[in-house]
Amino acid sequence: MADGMFGLSDELARETAPVWAKVKDHVTPMEWPAQAALIHEINQLKRERDAVILAHNYMTPEIFHGVGDYVGDSLGLAKEAARSTAKIIVQAGVHFMAETSKILSPEKMVLIPDLKAGCSLAASITGADVRLIKQRYPGLPVVTYVNTTADVKAETDICCTSANAVQVVEWAAKEWGVDRVILIPDEFLARNVAAQTTVGIIAWQGRCEVHERFTADDIAEMRAAYPNAEILAHPECPEEVLSAADFAGSTAAMTDYVMQRQPKQVVLITECSMASNIKGDVPGVDFIGPCNLCPYMQRITLTNIRDALLHLQFEVTVPEDMAERARLAVQRMVDLPPPLVPARYDLFKARHHVAVELI
Ligand code: 13P
Ligand code: SF4
Repeated sequence: MADGMFGLSDELARETAPVWAKVKDHVTPMEWPAQAALIHEINQLKRERDAVILAHNYMTPEIFHGVGDYVGDSLGLAKEAARSTAKIIVQAGVHFMAETSKILSPEKMVLIPDLKAGCSLAASITGADVRLIKQRYPGLPVVTYVNTTADVKAETDICCTSANAVQVVEWAAKEWGVDRVILIPDEFLARNVAAQTTVGIIAWQGRCEVHERFTADDIAEMRAAYPNAEILAHPECPEEVLSAADFAGSTAAMTDYVMQRQPKQVVLITECSMASNIKGDVPGVDFIGPCNLCPYMQRITLTNIRDALLHLQFEVTVPEDMAERARLAVQRMVDLPPPLVPARYDLFKARHHVAVELI
């Protein structure tokens, strides 16, 4: 971009040129001056406030490339929250991620730019539900997906994400000396994990409203229209979608797959900001739809991130006794070594056909 282009000052144009190069397929030249100014303001506020922005892979490209200090999947964000030395964490993601950061870093101020950035999975279950489940299945470990509220985590033995769910389930079964574990609240993640382990799974009927909409027919249509495209799916999708895909893994695992293998054509069966974010780094890869956006992730914008830093809003807190119990569950997960073969659902496809017991 030439200095001064789009009406930006030469200095701002120079400063934001690397970001523009990454977002220009997504942001129009008309939108860019306002966004470039916000990116500059946010990065300055971060320095003044000693703040760090932890951005999920589903953030829009101007957030992901423009202001995210750390970008990644749920597991990576949790690890970074524990590691960061900044005074303030701004969670560019959804509320359960901000709570997880607060649980792991109680001394830091954790801000979420919009309190309505929720999650259908986190909303599907409460701590009271988990207490009832424990009464029904005494002695079985409770493995909880990180997409849950702090009061659910407080009732949990160990958390997992889509990057390590199989490893965590197998660890819990061994540690408790049992052959079944409770894996809640995502029914599809539970079914996809059950296909890869001999450990019995007891599941809850929670759903991600973004991933539950994908069907095996969508994949068949994609294959017919683009026979050479490689199809990658997130484990929150129904099992028939994963069985029809070429690879499944967390958002970070899908990103690594595309970066390393650089397929000519790829379909990402997940929230569609992912494709927009990776595109800029792999110009030779052709990303083909579909596009499902997460309405909760989309609530986070450059404007409300700026306001979060300016007015120190909206602070996310977790009562200390709840946080202490939840911390044990999250920290256990963070302390596990990285999975030896992360998210290679393709290798294990249909290895087992264990019936999943639904609560
Ligand atoms: P991961 O980034 O852990 O794959 O999770 C996806 C998700 O749905 C987060 O909301
Ligand atoms: Fe929740 Fe699904 Fe949105 Fe992730 S994509 S925040 S799991 S609703």
